[in-house]
Amino acid sequence: MIKYLFIIILFLSLSQYSKADSDELKNPIYFLRTIDCVHSKCTIPKYYRTFSLHVFQVRNDTYTPAKCDPNNPFDINKVKSIKKKLEEAWPDFRNWDSPQGFWGTQWEHSGTCTEPYLTTQLAYFQQALTARENVHPNKALIEASILPSNTTTYTYSQFDDAFTKHHGKKTTIKCMNSWNDVVILHEIGYCFDMDFNAVDCSETIRNEQKEWCDDGSKIFLLDWWKQ
Ligand SMILES: *[C@@H]1O[C@H](CO)[C@@H](O)[C@H](O)[C@H]1NC(C)=O
Ligand SMILES: *[C@@H]1O[C@H](CO)[C@@H](O)[C@H](O)[C@H]1NC(C)=O
Repeated sequence: MIKYLFIIILFLSLSQYSKADSDELKNPIYFLRTIDCVHSKCTIPKYYRTFSLHVFQVRNDTYTPAKCDPNNPFDINKVKSIKKKLEEAWPDFRNWDSPQGFWGTQWEHSGTCTEPYLTTQLAYFQQALTARENVHPNKALIEASILPSNTTTYTYSQFDDAFTKHHGKKTTIKCMNSWNDVVILHEIGYCFDMDFNAVDCSETIRNEQKEWCDDGSKIFLLDWWKQ
């Protein structure tokens, strides 16, 4: 009798474990967030002025899995072949000379959750680079004549229209509320289906990401480095 019970309990706990392990993300998309370094603590060199990679993850409308595989820690040797490109595209704003710790955090937090789809560390980082090469936030701004300024401000819908027009799909826009309540454009996010076609980011994701830039906000586009 005791043996019987033991087997049942063991079976129950095993099946629970494997259920959690293979819990499938329903309606997944890829989500790429690019970021402009607007912190005063940026350590990036003066020549560097672009929206760089911040986050590349798989998620759905309501749920973003994180830290999916503690048994697969980041290994710089696995991305050696694209290290130069990563240094350019995915810098650590607070530690320009040594971004590897940041890549490791990103891999462990978001990358491991793409394993069912992208399967290797190299594939994850390569796909992030490719995705970023296909979005052009700076060009979108220039085309809409939205230029960096310390004095002219823009509205959320001006930015939104500029990115939608250039990219052809709805993006997300995040701002930062800085010193003296100054609102600054900070992040642009892009959504892709699982075949890497650009798709509209849903209103749910757009609203979730829309930090600090309300419809009435006066938003600055900063350009420290060209001053
Ligand atoms: C997102 O995926 C989770 C499972 O991981 C599921 O419970 C949830 O319903 C999904 N949300 C949408 C909007 O599909
Ligand atoms: C714009 O603001 C930055 C940061 O405060 C400052 O360094 C720069 O001199 C300003 N530029 C102009 C033209 O006022």
